[in-house]
Amino acid sequence: MAVKEQWRSGLGFVLAAAGSAVGLGNLWGFAYRASQGGGMVFLMLYLLIVVVVCLPLLVAEMALGRSTGRSPLVAPAVAGGRLWQPMGWLFVLVSFGILGFYVILMGWTGQTLLHALIHGLPQDKAIAQDFFDQIRGGQPAFLGQFLSLILTSLVVACGVQKGIERLSRWGLPLLFILLIGLAIWAAGLQGAHEGYRTFLLRWDANELLNPTTISNAFKQAFFSIGAGIGAILAYASYLDRRAHLPRESVLIVGMDTAVGLLAGMVTFPLVMSFGLADAVSKSTIGTLFITLPTGLSSLGMTGRLVAVLFFALAYIAAITSSVSLLEVPVASLMDRLGWTRVRAVCVSAVLTLLIGLPAVTGLPKLPGLSDAVSSLDVLGWMDSLFGGVLLILGGLFLTILLGWVAPSRLRNDLNGCNTPPALQRLLLVMLRWVSLPVVTIGVIISVIEFL
Ligand code: PHE
Repeated sequence: MAVKEQWRSGLGFVLAAAGSAVGLGNLWGFAYRASQGGGMVFLMLYLLIVVVVCLPLLVAEMALGRSTGRSPLVAPAVAGGRLWQPMGWLFVLVSFGILGFYVILMGWTGQTLLHALIHGLPQDKAIAQDFFDQIRGGQPAFLGQFLSLILTSLVVACGVQKGIERLSRWGLPLLFILLIGLAIWAAGLQGAHEGYRTFLLRWDANELLNPTTISNAFKQAFFSIGAGIGAILAYASYLDRRAHLPRESVLIVGMDTAVGLLAGMVTFPLVMSFGLADAVSKSTIGTLFITLPTGLSSLGMTGRLVAVLFFALAYIAAITSSVSLLEVPVASLMDRLGWTRVRAVCVSAVLTLLIGLPAVTGLPKLPGLSDAVSSLDVLGWMDSLFGGVLLILGGLFLTILLGWVAPSRLRNDLNGCNTPPALQRLLLVMLRWVSLPVVTIGVIISVIEFL
């Protein structure tokens, strides 16, 4: 058997894992879910879920990957016995499902970027809407999906060190610099404070009982950290024994949350100062592709520069995430069938392309449906099913597996990297008695919202 690949350094792993976490989910998802009206309640629930569920879960997922040294498909059965095999399949299925629509969003991002760079920004909302309607489905969307998938595949085909680690080493620091620069610039805009207040700081206690706000907070936390799908598990299987998992997890979660908040600090002032709050409050996945360029166009050359920087950084963030999603089936095929990396990448890429196709073409009128389904609806549906319900379900299974079925695996792994016993106990207690009930609520609410 070939020697197992490894990260060049602990820092390389942290950057790659943070790169997986930081993506369109932070730049788009955060802004669009925060703008659906939850205000401060959404923000607080999101932060709470990140700390009490995602953080311990991330440690557990990494421990599973590192201690077994196996792929997401095989690791659950190695740890918990054959009964846990379906969890491995779930990881692979959800990765395909998310990557299937993720590369389409990347395509939109890339096209908007190129358009801003080459032709400039749309002068008003109608023109922007027109442009978005052109790229969101059909041939242009297919082209964007195809090229983004090729780029992702090339990086993954180059391997752990030469592909994924190298990309994250320059991509993530660059992204932080750009984003901090833009947030500082946006803070000087006229509506900045109004923007923070309306979207992030407005308190309305009724929201605490609003199922949409609660399920949005769960989806946002799970999707943006990327826990519960095996991506971090795959990365951790290339990690050496010394890396201190709790510390790495705090770093990854911290960077991810910081990027979400910073992205909000860029988009909300923009939205407010251009008087686009109304357009955004009925937000869909596509809204920001229309409102941001329109708003920025009123600032002339500066606006164009900001748009180019913002969409470029979104694309960089997206590709460091898409490679981690593709790594799940690729590592699984290599592990289970002994395939070479290149072969596994080719087959996985073709499958991803096929899965995403209905989100490009839409669905014709099918028996049982009263109408044809638009490509945007399919995309939204895939986002809710794979990026919501099934992702959170994966998280639930992981908490049960490492909290109750195979806790000694977690303990042994944490012992091996010198985690203080008190911290080990705390993590296990959290996983068993806090994360598990909370994530169960998350699954129930997201299923109800989905139906
Ligand atoms: N976390 C990524 C984002 O925010 C998406 C992702 C989900 C990556 C699941 C890996 C696993 O865009």
